[in-house]
Amino acid sequence: MFHRVTFRSLLLLALCAALVHGEEKPIEETNSSLPLKKAERCTVDKCQLPNCRCSGLRLPSAEFQGREKEIPQLITITFDDAVNVINYEQYQQLFQGLVNPDNCTASGTFYVSHEYTDYTLVNALYQQGHEIALHSITHGSGTDYWREADVEQIMAEFGQQIEMLEQFAKVNRRHIRGMRLPFLQIAGNNSFEAAKRLDLLYDSSWPTQRYRNPAMWPYTLDYRSVQDCQIGPCPQASIPGFWVNPMVSWVDTQGYSCAMIDACIFPPKDDVDALFQWMLENFKRHYEGNRAPFGMYLHAAWFQRGRHNFEAFRKFLLHVNKLPDVYLTTASRVIHYMKHPTLGRPFHSCPKKPRTTCVKQNCALRKVETGEMRYMNVCDSCPTVYPWLGNPLGTTAY
Ligand SMILES: *[C@@H]1O[C@H](CO)[C@@H](O)[C@H](O)[C@H]1NC(C)=O
Ligand SMILES: *[C@@H]1O[C@H](CO)[C@@H](O)[C@H](O)[C@H]1NC(C)=O
Ligand SMILES: *[C@@H]1O[C@H](CO)[C@@H](O)[C@H](O)[C@H]1NC(C)=O
Ligand SMILES: [Zn+2]
Repeated sequence: MFHRVTFRSLLLLALCAALVHGEEKPIEETNSSLPLKKAERCTVDKCQLPNCRCSGLRLPSAEFQGREKEIPQLITITFDDAVNVINYEQYQQLFQGLVNPDNCTASGTFYVSHEYTDYTLVNALYQQGHEIALHSITHGSGTDYWREADVEQIMAEFGQQIEMLEQFAKVNRRHIRGMRLPFLQIAGNNSFEAAKRLDLLYDSSWPTQRYRNPAMWPYTLDYRSVQDCQIGPCPQASIPGFWVNPMVSWVDTQGYSCAMIDACIFPPKDDVDALFQWMLENFKRHYEGNRAPFGMYLHAAWFQRGRHNFEAFRKFLLHVNKLPDVYLTTASRVIHYMKHPTLGRPFHSCPKKPRTTCVKQNCALRKVETGEMRYMNVCDSCPTVYPWLGNPLGTTAY
């Protein structure tokens, strides 16, 4: 599913960790005291696939020039925040019966935050072939928290969340490849340095308005990014081999940009056809243009906000799912494609669905920080207290 070298080095690390006698060492190889290099201007001769790509509008391969109609159109459907029993049912209905032209099942990406998440449902999404990705433990108190976070803080929020997902949802950490910051608030170099040190592959928090027509493709941070900085500070350091999956904005009915569908200020009226046509217009900028991946970014709460939002969304998915060259896939598969771009069929094989066993436990736990009670469904066995930043496995009361 992922690039072979990465997989092998991870395997090697896992083996080393095992040799060190069960020490649950997080996968980090870089040193915090190493200064970052300033990112230089990108040139194609210095920056080549599979592990380097300049930012911008260039097609994934020079050979694609003039053959845009043969580039497979990838669509990423992503949802942020807690997974619970209400939105889980919506996700089931949304993806029901959708099969890509290569006969692999359609899948989405879930940027999960910890609080109120039902980990047994995360496990179910994972086993269905969806991507489970990171959206932090605390979700923070606002944009200041994330803008000012240092590398250690960001590593704690996301690194400890990996431990939670492993422990409570039985997600293999090798399958956790990406993150999205709460409020899309990046912290300059720090977010990306932290992500890289956690051995993640990509971030998908950075919106672009300037590069929506034609649309921007994913790229790496080896060299300076040309992407417009909408919610700064943006990184200036070189973060080799780390991918940015830019959030290419949609346009609302008044011409304003929105990074996420549910953030549009002037959406169409609450009517299935008006919503459907609007989605189609946004889609066509990609599909009839350079075929850069088309992102559908939202929160499940949007389905409650308008009576016809869900129906319109589903209608749109059924429509694009009939097109012979459109693939509904995960963000990490998009990066995989970017590393090995091809015309026509984008992937050699279907992603293997993970098989895990998850015996549901309903746990009533005290949140040490506030004294509140929280109910939490997890796989296999309950923690002692409500897990939180600093105590991700909820092992001891103090
Ligand atoms: C990592 O950083 C520490 C200081 O924090 C230093 O003593 C050590 O030599 C560094 N290791 C490497 C491999 O750079
Ligand atoms: C990011 O890192 C680069 C390279 O070390 C440095 O020049 C720049 O000042 C850093 N930016 C911030 C906001 O720390
Ligand atoms: C997908 O399945 C259909 C029906 O089972 C078959 O006709 C078609 O050739 C398959 N396509 C691919 C790409 O395997
Ligand atoms: Zn969020």
